[in-house]
Amino acid sequence: MTSYKELGLVNTREMFAKAVAGGYAIPAFNFNTLEQMQAIIQAAVETKSPVIMQVSKGARNYANGTILRYMAQGAVEYAKELGCEKPQIVLHLDHGDSFELCKDCIDNGFSSVMFDGSSLPYEENIRITKQVVEYAHAHDVTVEAELGVLAGVEDEVASEVSHYTKPEEVVDFSTRSGCDSLAISIGTSHGAYKFTPAQCTRDPKTGKLVPPPLAFDILHEIEKRLPGFPIVLHGSSSVPQDEVDTINAHGGKLPDAVGIPEEQLREASKSAVCKINIDSDSRLAMTAAIRKHFDEKPGDFDPRQYLKPARENMKKMYIHKIVEVLGSNDKL
Ligand code: G3H
Ligand code: 13P
Ligand code: ZN
Repeated sequence: MTSYKELGLVNTREMFAKAVAGGYAIPAFNFNTLEQMQAIIQAAVETKSPVIMQVSKGARNYANGTILRYMAQGAVEYAKELGCEKPQIVLHLDHGDSFELCKDCIDNGFSSVMFDGSSLPYEENIRITKQVVEYAHAHDVTVEAELGVLAGVEDEVASEVSHYTKPEEVVDFSTRSGCDSLAISIGTSHGAYKFTPAQCTRDPKTGKLVPPPLAFDILHEIEKRLPGFPIVLHGSSSVPQDEVDTINAHGGKLPDAVGIPEEQLREASKSAVCKINIDSDSRLAMTAAIRKHFDEKPGDFDPRQYLKPARENMKKMYIHKIVEVLGSNDKL
């Protein structure tokens, strides 16, 4: 058993309470690689932001759970080395799909876990979330639950259509499950293709797709019923068009990729939304930099030559999100 406290990590409790009260959101960035981790920590330290480093089941399978745990511990020490006296870093399991997986993460240094029972029947979702909460709270680990279904791929769980969270269920669900935060569905979705062209309009000047707005009415109704309760938004990449254009200009093929407009995320950050999940934008920033590098310098073959600009590009994107979208800078 390794407690996250031994690794210098923190859980989300205090961080979320401050974010809800302060009208900003904590960035939750997914990572699978060393370069993503370095870029996340550099960005968080430079902006003086708390940060959630999250790993999916797929990331654990890719990078190995033990290595990721040591990377999180390394992240804390790296932040200190960069001059941050008291870093606030959470290691979070993203989209845990069983009690056993959540327990394994808690036993191995995670300070926060998500149990994603959104595809299960309501009562089953409550039952397993509650089981996770009981084990997690005994170890001072915080738990995110999910109610409502996002369209797209949620790890191994895929859904063609989204089902918005029903505001009339949130009080019963959060009270009976005991969860510390709740992920809701209000129109975001995972990946770089969040909306089909048919769901969007086209900007007559640029020809780019303009997605439909998020369901702020549902968010406000949930806030009214659960005052001050921490709300989480998954699927919140904005799919920056300059990165998509760079990828496409250098041999990539991402037609009509579209994300959530940043002004809507900025708006959501001011509400009870206190955690915003971003993964695809990091993937795009990394891919754009690497594709450009290979196109311009076809003779390069040392990974450091192309991973360095990739890391720089991700760091730039993380800083932009923290300062210009979520507002979590200067909150340490
Ligand atoms: O919500 C899903 C995250 O973007 C993680 O994706 O399962 O491919 O690691 P992944
Ligand atoms: P994006 O695919 O929009 O980056 O969403 C990531 C996410 O929700 C991770 O849980
Ligand atoms: Zn997600």
